[in-house]
Amino acid sequence: MRSKPVFFLLSCLLGLSASNLALAQSGENTYKQVCASCHGSGVLNAPKFGDKAKWAPLIAEGQATLTAHAYFGVRAMPPKGGNPNLSIEGFSDALVYMVNNSGGNWKTPDAKMLAAINKELEARKANPKKP
Ligand code: HEC
Repeated sequence: MRSKPVFFLLSCLLGLSASNLALAQSGENTYKQVCASCHGSGVLNAPKFGDKAKWAPLIAEGQATLTAHAYFGVRAMPPKGGNPNLSIEGFSDALVYMVNNSGGNWKTPDAKMLAAINKELEARKANPKKP
């Protein structure tokens, strides 16, 4: 009888870490499938994965701004990372993975952050002058 609560607690813990893993994995997988070809080695001067000095000023732009601008496309960075089927959520997760391995500490966007990203994206579409 006494072991029941322990089992309950254990399965909660396991369930939690499994879902965290799934989240972390999807960003990592998208990064590997879509972004790594350029950001892994710094093709065309793309900010390299893990290069904290290069990423610091980008991270400082804030999650909503940087995510929206990169998704829209910036100079040699193709829109949607060059994958027309990549959703803003999938792109955001890949960017969170890249940022968190390059000196930042971002979270998977919640509804509020996604709304802010989409607002920034609309603003960029309305005024598509590239920086
Ligand atoms: C075809 C190569 C290529 C792919 C694929 C690619 N990028 Fe990039 N990315 C670049 C280049 C080049 C730059 C630098 C742009 C510049 O400053 O001229 C860049 C810049 C960025 C920036 C900084 C944007 C800014 O405002 O300066 C972010 C964020 C970014 N990429 C995210 C991603 C993510 C996330 C993916 C995958 C979903 C991805 N990129 C896929 C080439 C690529």
